[in-house]
Amino acid sequence: MSKIKTMFYCQNCGAQSSKWIGKCPACGEWNTYVEEVIQRDDDKNELHGFVIDSIAKPELIGEISVDSEKRINTFDDELNRVLGGGIVPGSLVLVGGEPGIGKSTLLLQVALNIKKIKVLYITGEESAQQIKMRADRIGIKNNDCLILTETSTKNIFSQIEIIKPDLLIVDSIQTLHTDIIESSAGSISQIRECASELQKFSKLTNTPVFLIGHITKDGNLAGPKILEHMVDTVLQFEGDRNYGFRILRSVKNRFGSTSELGIYEMQNTGLRQVTNPSEVLISERDENVSGVSIASTMEGMRSMLIEVQALVSTAAYGTPQRSSTGFDTRRLNMLLAVLEKRCGFKLGTKDVFLNIAGGIKVDDPAIDLAVIIAILSSNLDISIENNFCFAAEIGLSGEIRPASNIEQRISEADKLGFKKIFISKYNKITSGTKNYNIEICLVKKIEDIFKFLFL
Ligand code: TYD
Ligand code: MG
Repeated sequence: MSKIKTMFYCQNCGAQSSKWIGKCPACGEWNTYVEEVIQRDDDKNELHGFVIDSIAKPELIGEISVDSEKRINTFDDELNRVLGGGIVPGSLVLVGGEPGIGKSTLLLQVALNIKKIKVLYITGEESAQQIKMRADRIGIKNNDCLILTETSTKNIFSQIEIIKPDLLIVDSIQTLHTDIIESSAGSISQIRECASELQKFSKLTNTPVFLIGHITKDGNLAGPKILEHMVDTVLQFEGDRNYGFRILRSVKNRFGSTSELGIYEMQNTGLRQVTNPSEVLISERDENVSGVSIASTMEGMRSMLIEVQALVSTAAYGTPQRSSTGFDTRRLNMLLAVLEKRCGFKLGTKDVFLNIAGGIKVDDPAIDLAVIIAILSSNLDISIENNFCFAAEIGLSGEIRPASNIEQRISEADKLGFKKIFISKYNKITSGTKNYNIEICLVKKIEDIFKFLFL
């Protein structure tokens, strides 16, 4: 029988106590005591009776074979790319996201798609029947994928010992509980302890493990960042639940770049990979309407074209309203102030609404120019040609500033058949522009582009 001792620690000042207490006597903070394991039987590599007989010995770096680092193909190009080229054996990957965003769907698809290796999908949230119903809906046939409805890590490890899976998926880490700690499932100490058991398992057996984690309202992975330190890779699954688009972003990756991202669309039959986001993000328009402009933007290392929509109308009440979806409202206010102060457009008495089509969020400053053009277009009720696009940042003095990765932006717009792209005069284009069919218009000030488009 292994000896396990636990102790309660204040998360604020580190004071310890053998019992849980509500108010820390040392620092006076409330509700900061969390149970932690302080002593366990670490001589054996043992997880609730599941003994792994591998004792680590030092190896010469030259003799470590990298062959074992061969990655597992997930048969999902977007996920492979975000992971840095597939799943690394022995890695612990955390997939976080708000409830209902599609985390379970994504990983069930992976489990069903990988056919040659043994996958064990552990669910503590849904019943096996519910998983089966979802699998039927996704429509991928795989009779070898194992589903286990269990929340106790003790029982999970005894099953793992029998099954010996090649890939483990845990849905979700917040539902698991280990019996060495008394607190209830989902508490910080339970999450940390369960994750550390799974980490031990994945490192000792070289089995990759995916953990699904819920995000709290303020956008943090539940269990104050503790999981992020323990895992090798953190993936964030995000999107607006009212729209179909989902973005899979890598927030931390020990085995690849964090600037990659995957784009999916949630359909009736599961998640579809979106290989060319621009085509879906720009709505079809037969006739030109005012208040719409196209921005050539970058998300991570991917360039795509998005549609910016603005509506400017006379304020119905005394104080004009400014609201935006998918774009920072403070930045919108700043751009409006620049228009007012530097360029003399009187928008102070107008309501301004801004929307990025497709329900995606953009924080690329290079969409500033498209935002301003959409606002001016709506204000004057003059439409912009739908084969024009924009990529530049606006400075506080009204100057049009260069955007990063400009060549990638131009080439994406060119590929999609745009006629003109407006960029800053200060952008340095190193390679020749002759290869492009698109006309590159260099602009310096808002007045210049205003004259060209609206006068
Ligand atoms: P789910 O994977 O359960 O989300 P999470 O695990 O992140 O909480 O997905 C939930 C939503 O996705 C749910 O509202 C239904 C929708 N959905 C589809 O639109 N199409 C599908 O094929 C599936 C399986 C789910
Ligand atoms: Mg789920």
